[in-house]
Amino acid sequence: MWHHAAVSDPYYRADLARVHHLGFRFHADRCASGILQLLEPVLARRGVVLELGCGSGLLTRHLVDAGHRVVATDASPAMLELAAGYVPEAAEIRRITLPDDPLPEADAVVSVGHVLSYLPDEAAVERGLVAAAGALRPGGVLAIDLCDLEYGRREPGSMLGRMSDDWAIVLDISVPASDRLVRAVATFLPNDDGSWRRDDEVHENVLIDTSRVPGLLADHGLTAEVAASFGQETLPDGLMAVVGQRVS
Ligand SMILES: C[S@@+](CC[C@H](N)C(=O)[O-])C[C@H]1O[C@@H](n2cnc3c(N)ncnc32)[C@H](O)[C@@H]1O
Repeated sequence: MWHHAAVSDPYYRADLARVHHLGFRFHADRCASGILQLLEPVLARRGVVLELGCGSGLLTRHLVDAGHRVVATDASPAMLELAAGYVPEAAEIRRITLPDDPLPEADAVVSVGHVLSYLPDEAAVERGLVAAAGALRPGGVLAIDLCDLEYGRREPGSMLGRMSDDWAIVLDISVPASDRLVRAVATFLPNDDGSWRRDDEVHENVLIDTSRVPGLLADHGLTAEVAASFGQETLPDGLMAVVGQRVS
């Protein structure tokens, strides 16, 4: 049983985790088919898929439904609690905080929702990429998305709101520096007595020059490319798919 996240947990406390699960499945859904195609050789050899930043298990669900053995990991206890309920068939659900927690060996490392971009700076993102590369067995496949500097080239001060009958979210997005995107997030959820509560989180994403990633991964035994998508899907401008394979 996972405990509810303490207030000190930096990202995705219980309310935002719930709103993410209910309202933000579209990204994992659109990435799933391309990733499943990349993972076909891994499925054929019954390999283990390590998922980083699995959140509530939205991509995990697709992977498990396709027959994969998935070790689903995230830093957020609230997310992991949802994942345990949503994808109980996962081989394992484990708390792993990037970039420095040790990673188990795997035949594929996957991650969507620019999980590594939540790390504090470019050096930490690079440590996370190197850790992912190091977890891969020979022939292993890497498929993760990552924010490029391009992701921050948008209208300043954009505001986004979404609501449903039983949740609402408001995001205030700013780009205080060319390598930094900040989302101030307020979620609204009903209490048992019918009143609504608000919870606030601030998420910072570090934006990097992703064209340097293949060189970094090559130093760690991977051939990799940075592409506009995993398969046929369209990703938001500046969100890049890093796809690679361990060759040695
Ligand atoms: C945008 S969500 C994506 C969740 C899920 N992959 C999806 O597509 O629905 C980003 C996830 O990254 C996780 N995360 C943020 N920082 C992390 C870290 N340092 N280590 C591991 N996970 C982290 C968050 O807890 C959250 O679940």
